[in-house]
Amino acid sequence: MSAAVSTSAAAVAYPLGPVDQIPRGEGRAFAVAGHQIAVFRKRDGSLRALSAVCTHQGGPIADGQIDNSVVLCPLHLNAFELDTGCSTTGAAPLRTYPVDLDDDQIVVYAA
Ligand code: FES
Repeated sequence: MSAAVSTSAAAVAYPLGPVDQIPRGEGRAFAVAGHQIAVFRKRDGSLRALSAVCTHQGGPIADGQIDNSVVLCPLHLNAFELDTGCSTTGAAPLRTYPVDLDDDQIVVYAA
């Protein structure tokens, strides 16, 4: 991974490479400074970043199916809102991370 760029005392920007590595409608997992982060590229091209480890029993969130608003964990199909990480099926929430595009490069922010 490239060198991190410090933006504030609380969060550090981590470049994760070109957005084209994630097809629209899918997610990919990245290891970032001790965090396992699932980055999703929605069909409209926008990005969302959540913990890649399901709060239920550790399922691989990045492998889940998404629609415009939620991701379904592939193990037991708990649903989590892409914007907030909150579960609509009663599981504990997933952590969310700020994520941006910078010249078609994914940048995620983690403390
Ligand atoms: S591990 Fe994700 S729903 Fe069970």
